[in-house]
Amino acid sequence: MKPLNLKTRIFLDGGNADETEEIINLLGFLDGQTTNPTLISKNPEARERLAKGSKFSPEEIIHFYKGVVRKISAMIPRGSISVEVYADPSTTADEMLRQGKEMFSWIPNAHIKFPSSKEGLKAAGEAVKAGMRVNLTLCFSQEQAAAVYAATLGAKRGDVFVSPFIGRLDDRVENGMDLIANILKMYQKGDGHVEVLTASVRNIDHLLYAIRLGSDIITVPFKILKEWGEKGLPMPGEGYVYKSAGLKKMAYREIDLSKKWQDFDISHDLTVKGMEKFSEDWNALIR
Ligand code: E4P
Repeated sequence: MKPLNLKTRIFLDGGNADETEEIINLLGFLDGQTTNPTLISKNPEARERLAKGSKFSPEEIIHFYKGVVRKISAMIPRGSISVEVYADPSTTADEMLRQGKEMFSWIPNAHIKFPSSKEGLKAAGEAVKAGMRVNLTLCFSQEQAAAVYAATLGAKRGDVFVSPFIGRLDDRVENGMDLIANILKMYQKGDGHVEVLTASVRNIDHLLYAIRLGSDIITVPFKILKEWGEKGLPMPGEGYVYKSAGLKKMAYREIDLSKKWQDFDISHDLTVKGMEKFSEDWNALIR
């Protein structure tokens, strides 16, 4: 059962509905799930098919993704399921929006993931105006999170998530958890319409510290959620200390949230690399 003092929503980060079922049975609850092209490419059914040398046609892969998302949605009908558009660095906002609209119709509880790039933010801004829920992924800086806030102004709380990627920052010795703390602090000056979804979680400490910081949502890979569940859902106590030794501090910056989103410096090499890797993994599934 969900600990009574756990306010943060816990999502599973994965592309396999069997894992969703196992986690619901183990934890006794699950608040949602995030998927992405890489996670879908790791789905056992997709792997099996590829191992037999039979890649998907462009129509078949969309049908497959829809099927996975529908199974997951049926298991978490009151939660949120994030579905990610195909976006390589040259994909236009119009193309992302077209895909997003289709994906949004697959299930009643979708958040559509767009990259925190110029075209992604443009698409997300249009999407919220059209009444869609969005999740801005591949966020690596406070400026990108500020731009997400500005690009989606007018949307109601619950309809917009921003996903800062912790593990990928840690991988290059920057303290990803600082980014979570900084964005939460910056958003305190706003209207509260964007929720912080801690992503790219690599260990239980990321999970515990994100809970301690008050992240609205955390998406956690199967292995780590299983470990947390098997340990009896431990919570970070008052004196909890996150060990960030060896990681470079990401300093807090005063940012004016009332600027236009186009006026923020949203460029980040990890966003571009992330889009390249997601599209590469997706394209590898298609003949
Ligand atoms: C979830 O929304 C993200 O796509 C995911 O957490 C990324 O994790 P990774 O950095 O381990 O690939």
